[in-house]
Order: sequence, then structure tokens, then C-alpha cells
Amino acid sequence: MDDRLLASVAAAVGTPVYVYDAAMIRERYATLTNALWRFPHRVHYAVKANSNLAVLAVVRAVGAGADIVSGGELHRALAAGFDPSGIAFSGVGKTDQELMLALRHGVGCINLESEGEADRLLSLAAGNDARARVGIRVNPDITAETHPYTQTGEKGMKFGVPVDRVIPLALRLVASGVVALVSIGVHIGSQIVDADPFREAAERLAGFVAALGAAGVPKLGSVSVGGGLGIAYMEGDRALDPDALARAIEPLHRATGLPIAVEPGRYLVGPAGVLLTRVLYRKLAGGRTIAVVDAGMNDLLRPSLYGATHPIRVVGPSASAPAEVMDVVGPLCESGDFLGHERRLGGARPGALLEVGGAGAYGFAMSSQYNSRPRAAEVLVDGARCGIVREREQVDDLMRGEHLEPQWMDTP
Ligand code: LLP
Repeated sequence: MDDRLLASVAAAVGTPVYVYDAAMIRERYATLTNALWRFPHRVHYAVKANSNLAVLAVVRAVGAGADIVSGGELHRALAAGFDPSGIAFSGVGKTDQELMLALRHGVGCINLESEGEADRLLSLAAGNDARARVGIRVNPDITAETHPYTQTGEKGMKFGVPVDRVIPLALRLVASGVVALVSIGVHIGSQIVDADPFREAAERLAGFVAALGAAGVPKLGSVSVGGGLGIAYMEGDRALDPDALARAIEPLHRATGLPIAVEPGRYLVGPAGVLLTRVLYRKLAGGRTIAVVDAGMNDLLRPSLYGATHPIRVVGPSASAPAEVMDVVGPLCESGDFLGHERRLGGARPGALLEVGGAGAYGFAMSSQYNSRPRAAEVLVDGARCGIVREREQVDDLMRGEHLEPQWMDTP
């Protein structure tokens, strides 16, 4: 995004502020769907990556469905105008209330992740007139090269139904007569830059679809290879090539005749967002130069949690000043509160505006009020226009719902 635009947003709204580029989200959606055109497919946007209503509205308007993991995300998706039939509901710990909400709204596919969850859903759906549409999320026992915290497809992990339980579960669901089994899918992890794990997942799924058919399960409506499409953060980083992904999963369509669903979150919105933050202080300590900025791990957790590296640059003409190597750290009382270590930046003096790139996914969405810091504002840029899509939180927001005097309860 243009430096002058970013500087004027920071001046008008203050910092820290997330800024999203609607045009880039649309472009990335077009690139992905152009790669997938050769077989019938569905794109379900993983709402958790960035659940701002205005961002959801952009994604909905280009034709995507939604992948959700909580009742809250269902409410957001509905508020942004997603058709319930285009919503897939995953997650290992759906509560009765969440399952009921999904049933009531006629969500397109409730992805079951355990036999216990299937039991709950069958009993909750028993009284329903319409048969609920369900899918099975399989744990395919595939290792994807990525951060251990974002691997999800290995056996022994909490996600998905273990391989040997899939057919018995499918048969039980079909025999119940209460639900319709419409999908089988996987999600093997996040930030995967190589197409091979997707090829492997597609092969496993083709095997499952064949086994379900042989066991007498009626034809499914679609099969899902999940999300996890990796993006480049730093210059020179690898990213998943959408064409390579398409080639890797196309055999799954040829083998099954079914449309293939993908659930990208980061791919669509990650590169389309930046976090703007201002330098507060510059200090020298133990031979290191440190820029203390007004955004911290409560605003962008990824560097602290995963050791993730996001590009950082100075916005505006001062960036051409001689570069210095420095740590960019937040104001929180944690040594793990940093945005980047040993970055070469010119002009990162107090008052300078910094842009942290690749912040459109899992940025604001994972932010918190830790250290009682109000969460950042969010702005959407759409062509020549830009507007606030989430107000900066205020002190009242920090204490909302709290009681200075406990609301004493009647306890036995
Ligand atoms: N589908 C399911 C069932 C998921 O659990 C996820 C992400 C996705 C799709 C979308 O994954 P994506 O395409 O965005 O990689 N906080 C971490 C990422 C956690 C992802 C969790 N599940 C990060 O900041 O890297």
C-alpha cells in the first residue's frame, strides 16, 4: 500500500492500527480460483484468520463460502451475509449450544471430529425435520513441514477421526437416518509451502471415498483438502504455488468425480494486511540498538508464539536514512514481546512510522488486551477509499463486564 496513504491513516486513526487492502484479497481469490478452474471446487474462507466483518464481506462478495470453528464465527459469518449452506463448521470441541446453533441455521456441513461429537449431534438432531448435513474430518496421519504448533494431521493429535474409525463412524451416521453424510475431509496444518503433503492427503482421501462407496455409503457431495496454503513473509521465502496445489489435488477429483473444497485463511488475507506502529523510543543496551514501538505481542502474537518473522520497514522518506541493525520490541513487560530481531532499518527514530507486513492473517484475530492494552483499530482500504472497520478499543472496553463488587451467588 502507498506510503502516503499509510501515513495519513496512521495520522487520522492513530497507532497501532491494522490496515487491509480489499483489492489484494480479491486478487488473491482470483489467482487461487484461476488455478483451481480445471475441476469443480469450492473455496471456504477460514474465518479464524481474520474475522473482521468488513473483511468477511469482501470475501463473501467474491463468492467464497466460510469455514468456521465456533458459534461466534457462525454469528460473524451470518452477519457478513454468508449463505448458511456455504458454511462448513469444523473444530474438536463444539458444545451442545454450538451444534444446536448450526442445526438451527442449516449450516452446509458440520464436520465431525470425534465419535463422541457424532453421538452428541445424533441425539441433538434426532428431533429435527430436516436431516443435518455432516462431514467427517479424518486425521490422515500426514506430517506437513511447518511449525509444530500448526501441524494438525499426525496420528495422536487432537484433530480429526483416526483412520481406523472412519468407516465404522460413516456407517453409523448413515444408518441413523438422522443426518446426511455429505463430505469427508482433512486439514493437515498451516503455512505449508510444499504441494506434496496436499498430494498425499488427496491420495488418502481418494482411498477413503472408494472405501465408503464399497461399504455402501451413498455418494458424497464434496471432499475437502483443508487449508494451510503457505505464503511468503520475508523476501526470498517460499510460498505455496496455487498451480502446484491444483495439480496435486486434481487426481482426487478424477478418482472420485466430486468437487474439491479448499479452506484457505492466510492465503487470502495474510499478504493483504499490515500493522502500523510508531517508534516511541530508541535505546542502546549491551551493544544492541533497540526500537521500542507502540505495538506489542498483544497486537501481533506470531513472532512471540511461533518465532515467526514478519517484514518490517519504515514508512515514508526517512526510510532512506542510513540503515542500522536493531531489535523492534513492544512495550509489554515480557522479554518475548518483540516484533523482529536484528532488522536493518533506516530512519527508525522516535516518531517514525513502521509497517509490519504479512499481518492480515492471525494478526488482529489473535490479539488480546494483555497488560490492559486496548486492542488496535482496523481500517479497510478499497481503491481510492479507506474507512475504519473496527474502532480502537477504549478504557471502558477493557473493564466491560467486570464487577468491582463481586456479584455474590447462592451457593450450597
Ligand atoms: N481449516 C481448518 C480446519 C483450520 O483449522 C485452519 C487453521 C484452516 C482451515 C486455515 O488455515 P490457513 O489456510 O490459514 O493456514 N495461528 C497460526 C495458524 C493456525 C491455523 C489454525 N487452523 C498462525 O498464526 O500461523
